[in-house]
Amino acid sequence: MRDTTLTELSIRRPDDWHLHLRDGAMLAGVIGDTSRHFARAIIMPNLVPPVVTTDDAAGYRQRILDALPQGDRFEPLMTLYLTEHTNPDDVEAGHRSGLIRAVKLYPAGATTNSHSGVRDLAKVMPVLERMAKIGLTLCVHGEVTTPEIDIFDREAVFIETVLDPLRERLPELRITMEHVTTKDGVDYIRTAKANLAGSITTHHLIINRNAILVGGIRPHYYCLPVAKREEHRLALREAATSGDAHFFLGTDSAPHADPLKECGCGCAGIYTSINTMSCLAHVFEEEGALDRLEAFTSLHGPAWYGLPPNEERIRLLRRDTPVVFPARRDTGAGPVTVFDPMFPLYWDVA
Ligand code: NCD
Ligand code: ZN
Repeated sequence: MRDTTLTELSIRRPDDWHLHLRDGAMLAGVIGDTSRHFARAIIMPNLVPPVVTTDDAAGYRQRILDALPQGDRFEPLMTLYLTEHTNPDDVEAGHRSGLIRAVKLYPAGATTNSHSGVRDLAKVMPVLERMAKIGLTLCVHGEVTTPEIDIFDREAVFIETVLDPLRERLPELRITMEHVTTKDGVDYIRTAKANLAGSITTHHLIINRNAILVGGIRPHYYCLPVAKREEHRLALREAATSGDAHFFLGTDSAPHADPLKECGCGCAGIYTSINTMSCLAHVFEEEGALDRLEAFTSLHGPAWYGLPPNEERIRLLRRDTPVVFPARRDTGAGPVTVFDPMFPLYWDVA
């Protein structure tokens, strides 16, 4: 239900708890779209080669800071890419120094740049046990990669065959189930008693799988985990706008140069950094939940990661005419198509 009376909203500056910034020319081209609105972001480590050691993460963090537009204050929260060779001592040292905020588990082959990911969970148990001991969060790309499992079922099967057994075995391990895309994921997080939270992307609140496939194949709506049926989108919207502190924003904004998406085997990833706050205000307004937007974008995430919420605030204004975003972000690594929600956006960050 639309509350037509509200045209202005002041919220604490948001954070993005799942973000791909890439490196080099792409990093330089996209970072400003995040630092304009967001104070902090959990930075995904799936570079080529991936960010696997504390040293790698320190170098990458510096490159991010160097690429920031002048005057922008932004804190990259660094993660390590978990491999079967990850050294628990390095992880612990990185965590203790304050550099490493989470470790990312990619099942090998699950998504973009995940070939160095984990094949056999038993091989990383020593790292996971150490993380449980020191209270370091595991961020999980929750999809199985077994070829027999249908791509639309991979999240649900992951919960049943990987996540739930892992939580049984190591209940003290804090786990973020990233970019939840199914009702199964939402329900699982809701019923899990402790040490589990979930991030939700902007685009999964807006598109279902029809966006990718109806009327022609539309590569700019293809991401992983792939958007599911409408009932799942509705469950995600309900979770995000419910005020339940287990759910928070992780945009999964994932830029790829257009030629790499518009081809015979296109990359997964949707670029939303630039219009995420406008899209979210629209969604929360539609759900009659504008008063809960701040909790989703600015409060639940810091609480889960043990950080204070931002003191600074941003102002959102509802304009009378649609806000126009560029269709593409031009970067030194090529043009990147911006997420088109397929409806006009009226909310703008002042
Ligand atoms: C991400 C990327 O491009 O790095 N792509 C995506 O579709 N979300 C990887 C990921 O988070 O799965
Ligand atoms: Zn991602």
